[in-house]
Amino acid sequence: PHPGYAQMRRETPVIQVEPAGFWAISRYEDVAFVIKNPLLFSSEGFKTAWQPAWVGYNPLANSMITSDGTKHTRMRTLVSRAFNASAIQRMEARIRKLSLQLADGLAQKGEGDFVSLFAMPLPAFVIGELLGLDVSFHHRFKGWSDDIASVTPEPLTPQHAERTLTAIADLTGYLSEVIAARRRTPADDLVSDLVRAEADGQSLTDREIIDFLVLLLIAGLETTVHLLANSLLFLADHPEEYARLRANPTLVPKFIEEMLRYDSPVQALVRIVTTDVTLAGVKIPKGEVVLAIVSSANRDERQYPHPDRFELHRDQPSISFGHGAHFCIGAQLARMEARCGMEALLSRFSGFQRTPAELTWGQAITVRGPHTLPLRFIP
Ligand code: HEM
Repeated sequence: PHPGYAQMRRETPVIQVEPAGFWAISRYEDVAFVIKNPLLFSSEGFKTAWQPAWVGYNPLANSMITSDGTKHTRMRTLVSRAFNASAIQRMEARIRKLSLQLADGLAQKGEGDFVSLFAMPLPAFVIGELLGLDVSFHHRFKGWSDDIASVTPEPLTPQHAERTLTAIADLTGYLSEVIAARRRTPADDLVSDLVRAEADGQSLTDREIIDFLVLLLIAGLETTVHLLANSLLFLADHPEEYARLRANPTLVPKFIEEMLRYDSPVQALVRIVTTDVTLAGVKIPKGEVVLAIVSSANRDERQYPHPDRFELHRDQPSISFGHGAHFCIGAQLARMEARCGMEALLSRFSGFQRTPAELTWGQAITVRGPHTLPLRFIP
């Protein structure tokens, strides 16, 4: 899928890309080095890279994904409770039920766009629950998330900018109400956890809570949509792999791990170089932007034998959830969503086929997956 990356890994593993000016890092070892060394490669870079897209207002500016050091650790400690194993487990029964409902919906249709019918509603529902949205808001939430999550670090049309700003204003307005309500009457949910965390000496401001919730929408929605859609695209093209999973659904977790490596939902991570640094023999000056290309690292022949083969049984994990301080806080949740989704599909369908309708791809540069995936759902 990325023949250009193989050549980069071979010939120019660290190279400045013109006219954009950023440095592309394509080997596993170097990508891992970049994201394991936040003192040399700062995450504040993300902020700059996203700024144009947010037309002056940037909800990521104070979020943990764009923070380093103690500021990052404080945020991460406060929110991590909501993502621990027992919190995730509590959600599983509801997610499994929703997965089966969505699969039944596919069965009724017979064919259609897998993204809008399954891959999007499943994680959107999960994030909606995390944000404390009540069901009556789910239809508005869909519009917000479409407008907000489709933002990429590229120039925006004025119409898109306008829509994005309106969506952010609506969403943050609504979240303020949820936070106020949970302050009055705590419930058993993430927002209440975040509000309560304020009481134990440490505290989060309303603004910080809102920024974190918007971060979840950005970090947790499109990525998971892509994982599900990439999986189904692969299985429609490889019916023998689908048959193997169907015969033995306990292989699903291994399938998901290999899918994450084979088709990375997150393509690249952005960092800013804090001091002159030499990587693979190439000097990168202080202040430069580096793009650690996760999807290339995941196909590096130095790390994975036969990297372009899909192989369920591999010893080396992928780097798709990142590494070190910023390792994806939603990794277990995303894995569980994907597992529930796959198990529901396996239980209802003997296979999937592409239809003549056109497959389209998302346009963002930092994430990758189908935008629409027309499939026939075979009972
Ligand atoms: C961070 C990937 C799903 C929330 C990250 C990072 C990666 C990633 C690569 C590291 C970013 C960096 O180092 O700059 C993915 C993929 C997903 C996924 C591939 C799905 C397949 C989710 C979900 C949530 C989530 C479901 C929450 C609902 C976050 C948050 C961070 C993060 C909050 C920032 C952590 C920090 O800065 O300490 N994710 N993610 N992600 N992810 Fe995910």
